[in-house]
Amino acid sequence: MSTSPSIRRITAPEIRARKGGTPIVCLTCYHAHTARILDEHVDVMLVGDTLGMVIHGMETTLGVTLDMMILHGQAVMRGARRALVIVDLPFSSYEESPEIAFRTAARVMRETGCSAVKLEGGTRQAHTIKYLTSRGIPVMAHIGLTPQMIQMIGGFKTQGQTEAEWPALEQDAHAVAEAGAFAVVLEAMAEPLAAKITRAIPIPTIGIGGSPDCDGQILVMEDMLGLNPHPPRFVREYARLGPEIDAAVRTYAADVRGRRFPSKENVYPMKKHAQ
Ligand code: KIV
Repeated sequence: MSTSPSIRRITAPEIRARKGGTPIVCLTCYHAHTARILDEHVDVMLVGDTLGMVIHGMETTLGVTLDMMILHGQAVMRGARRALVIVDLPFSSYEESPEIAFRTAARVMRETGCSAVKLEGGTRQAHTIKYLTSRGIPVMAHIGLTPQMIQMIGGFKTQGQTEAEWPALEQDAHAVAEAGAFAVVLEAMAEPLAAKITRAIPIPTIGIGGSPDCDGQILVMEDMLGLNPHPPRFVREYARLGPEIDAAVRTYAADVRGRRFPSKENVYPMKKHAQ
């Protein structure tokens, strides 16, 4: 018999039902220990393909593989008991056809135990979103700046800064909602457009560089903890762990070099022998 009280995990339909309600708190997460810390505070943990840049030092997310996503998805699932865990489908693992997307998403869910997947694209992925959701795979969509298209876009640029760009982005939002996505990330979108889309569509919008009017917000955890030396403009640093780590390691290195570490409290003593 289990002695720990059972904790119920938040579901994709519950997130969907939060449209217009209490804002949805989301963070990216890539490891088990941080998942344990985040679990009490966030509604959604996204195992985003930004892990390629944040954890593995890649220039873009394009080199991230499905195996990498599954490995980090498994780690996060070991730490998260209450939050909804969503795993990104990486570049080239789903775009070819809805059937391939289904096989990829099913493998991610089966091997990690996560409850939903995220994929990038609006109108161009609506058919795939419909295919997945009608076969039991909850999908979070991702429109606006879609980093997997970075080579086509030509850089990390704000989306919808002129009104001429708005109709296509609005169409993307409607298309993913109609296709059955339970929520949609609006990345790097001009604020009035993110607010307008939030009012117009029936599913929650999750802003990242969007608008305070979005139904929820997401940040890359390492950015908000101050581990990114060049964070994007929309990031607020809630901690400054980069400088703290620097100071801690500097002190450690000085202690080792000065033979101040390990001290008596840090070493294993001999067993005391009975006289
Ligand atoms: O990969 C990721 O972390 C993301 C968020 C930035 C939304 O897609």
